[in-house]
Amino acid sequence: MEWRPRQKPKEVRIAFIGTGVQQRSHIRTYANLPGVKFVAASDIVEEKLNEFCDDFNIEHRYVDYREMLKRDDIDAVDVTVHNNLHLPLVIEVLRAGKHCYCEKPMAGSFVDAVAMYEASEEYGKLLHIQLARIYDHVTVAAKEHIDSGKLGHIYHARSYGYRRRGRPYVDGYAEKEFDQAWIAQHGALYDMGVYHISQLLYLLGLPKLERVSGKVYQELDMDPVRKEISKFDVEELGVGFAHYENGLTLDILESWAIHGGPFPPSAIYGSKGGVSLGGDFSSIKADPMENAFTFYDEELGYPRVVKLDLQAEFGRRVQVDPNYNFYANSQAHWLAALRGQCELLPTKDIALETMRVSEGLFLSSTLNREIYAEEIPTLSKSTALRTQETPFGTLKYDF
Ligand SMILES: NC(=O)c1ccc[n+]([C@@H]2O[C@H](COP(=O)([O-])OP(=O)(O)OC[C@H]3O[C@@H](n4cnc5c(N)ncnc54)[C@H](O)[C@@H]3O)[C@@H](O)[C@H]2O)c1
Repeated sequence: MEWRPRQKPKEVRIAFIGTGVQQRSHIRTYANLPGVKFVAASDIVEEKLNEFCDDFNIEHRYVDYREMLKRDDIDAVDVTVHNNLHLPLVIEVLRAGKHCYCEKPMAGSFVDAVAMYEASEEYGKLLHIQLARIYDHVTVAAKEHIDSGKLGHIYHARSYGYRRRGRPYVDGYAEKEFDQAWIAQHGALYDMGVYHISQLLYLLGLPKLERVSGKVYQELDMDPVRKEISKFDVEELGVGFAHYENGLTLDILESWAIHGGPFPPSAIYGSKGGVSLGGDFSSIKADPMENAFTFYDEELGYPRVVKLDLQAEFGRRVQVDPNYNFYANSQAHWLAALRGQCELLPTKDIALETMRVSEGLFLSSTLNREIYAEEIPTLSKSTALRTQETPFGTLKYDF
């Protein structure tokens, strides 16, 4: 390839709301990307805020994010707080005229996600939802197979995610709010399920949901002390079955904890071929052929299993494709879209469709019946926090 000097990318000025576990992961990713300025950060817990700002050299610190949003030197705000706070904070960011990056799941309920979507349209600002799996090598490879027609007519997909014992906080990792419905709203399906469901809905071209049924469970014992502290009241296992347009079906199985062996990976099945989406970021294996995307079809009537070496191919693409970094991960993509180097993938649409089927599944579990897609907008109730108690008083949210 012809040698060209690397151009310095246009600077993007980022601010942060929430300085917890996941925001630390975001900022480390941004720090590895060129042309990002960390302007300011906000957290209601001052010690946490100061520690974050000291660690990442951020000068401007705010316990009240509303003061931070008055600044005119911020391009985009990264909102990484728990799910029932997504709607109020995202709306204020968009209303303040800043682009907004928001964590998954999009919100605590479907109607709240719709309100966020509409606010992004109304204020004319980008809204990007963190859906990490759509950038995975397996997803890119699967999309190329689907787009080239190698699967034929696609009729079924499987969204599976497995942890033997990995409930946040009660089994060790993350803060107790993950387990509390008042702020997180739901458990395994919102934490891990959204990654797997969104990956499939993206690959399936955002099909139209017709109806869904499902059930959520909390059956396994847990550490009694951590159970008492966390007041765990969300699901550790979610199962569902959804019907989409044109006879397409999707089955869902997502576990934070279960007495059972690993589930097979998510998969998509078509009349001419199928793909197995192994190599989940949570279970990447050292052996590149095991870290596997697998394609199934027939050759001369024989069932054929094709393993692709994604590491070798993506190692090559990093070197030769000047636009590779525009899609390398959620943050790299966000920065490229903010700079106008590529169009933002429709993550708010993918996230909204993920919310639709998830909400249908939860409603089905509560009402003990199948839920039709047209019922979801009316049965879904806002779960967003209207007020929030903070060390400096009660915040009232206007949305
Ligand atoms: N922890 C993970 O591994 C992980 C992974 C992927 C996605 N997420 C998502 O990230 C979000 C946050 O999770 P987390 O683990 O980082 O939570 P966390 O509890 O570690 O951090 C949340 C932070 O938000 C702050 N906060 C709350 N209200 C605020 C307000 N009004 N203004 C400013 N700050 C406020 C809290 O004080 C806290 O520091 C959730 O939506 C979760 O689903 C987390």
